[in-house]
Amino acid sequence: MINQQRNPDAGSQAPILVTGGAGFIGSNFVLDYLASGSGPVVNLDKLTYAGNPENLASVRHDPAYTFVHGDINDAALVAELLQRHQPRAIVHFAAESHVDRSIAGPEAFLRTNIDGTFTLLQAARAHFATLSETQRSQFRFLHVSTDEVYGTLLPEDPAFHEDTPYAPNSPYAASKAASDHLVRAWVHTYGLPAIITNCSNNYGPYQFPEKLIPLMIANALQGKPLPVYGDGQQVRDWLYVIDHCRALRTVLESGRIGETYNVGGGNQRSNLEVVNTLCALLDELVPTSKFAPHKQLVAFVTDRPGHDRRYAIDARKLENELGWHAEESFETGLRKTVQWYLANSTWVEHVTSGAYQNWIAQNYAARESSSTAIATAEAAR
Ligand code: NAD
Ligand code: TYD
Repeated sequence: MINQQRNPDAGSQAPILVTGGAGFIGSNFVLDYLASGSGPVVNLDKLTYAGNPENLASVRHDPAYTFVHGDINDAALVAELLQRHQPRAIVHFAAESHVDRSIAGPEAFLRTNIDGTFTLLQAARAHFATLSETQRSQFRFLHVSTDEVYGTLLPEDPAFHEDTPYAPNSPYAASKAASDHLVRAWVHTYGLPAIITNCSNNYGPYQFPEKLIPLMIANALQGKPLPVYGDGQQVRDWLYVIDHCRALRTVLESGRIGETYNVGGGNQRSNLEVVNTLCALLDELVPTSKFAPHKQLVAFVTDRPGHDRRYAIDARKLENELGWHAEESFETGLRKTVQWYLANSTWVEHVTSGAYQNWIAQNYAARESSSTAIATAEAAR
């Protein structure tokens, strides 16, 4: 079903077309972009389980914001939106994004992440051909991707840089790698002015509580087990979502066509460190909690199949070339995030009702608690 709310008074500035703008990073980006006065936004989102219009309630009546309920695989719809809105850029977030879901059911990942990106690229290419010389020089296709395309690192390996060979290990990572390759080919073959960003793990407001940080916060507040996969020594490089949004705006305005920019905050932490830090923050911020100390809720469970051991991003190209720097440290960002979830318990209640419970049952019921992992992890604490 296509449900289009259009704001005819959006002003004369050319809008950007955002895909997947009702998800975690997309909605933070739309809010940040509108707040920065960068121009109008048209948001095309299918509203899967991960898309939530509530994230954008504060801009629903903003004349600079237009929401379109639809699928990026709908070529006719995408062509019509490009023709009607004449965006100066496409910022492509729409994706299936959760590794565990990609292991349980990879099909949707191939359909949206690969086929959907192909559909968008073809529509962008056809649209680009209709533009004037001036419009062409301004048009951009910004493809938002992940560091997971690079595979996994050993403890002593240098961080991923833009020339690190692709070696995706999960169905999610493989589908994003495929989409990156398509974008690259459309630049080289058809001259589409696209740029790719590969970012590390994001955290912050509006993240769906299937991902590590919001899941742990939601579970801890309810006194539920905190399921740490394997020995909890896997390392991720965390970036506060608003820093990612600022990086995307920077790349959109000043990035070089055909280039890739890695985005990361230089915050490598093991999963167990992240969970322990969250528990300490909750002990402090919810002193009356009957579940404190929250660390007692940690439960080591069967590992994720093919679990990547370590990700780390070298963001020096973005920093040196375009002057972007992460503003939030992991400590300040995590504190803000916990405070946001504490202040937005209604949002959490809404997104964790219904189908969410089925996913939690499916993903965690089959994972046994792992005594080997506990022994290893206890030693590492
Ligand atoms: P998300 O799962 O929270 O949101 C995805 C959004 O895309 C949802 O609003 C969903 O409704 C929409 N969508 C899904 N399929 C669609 C389709 N066929 N047509 C239109 N809309 C559709 O994802 P996220 O965490 O916000 O990630 C956004 C992008 O950033 C993804 O491309 C992801 O690969 C990338 N990324 C994410 C992270 C991270 O840590 N979350 C890190 C680096 C890169
Ligand atoms: P996740 O948030 O799913 O992001 P990604 O897989 O894209 O890195 O997971 C982050 C890390 O946390 C990853 O190493 C898997 C781990 N993890 C757990 O230990 N327990 C969980 O319940 C979840 C969801 C993730």
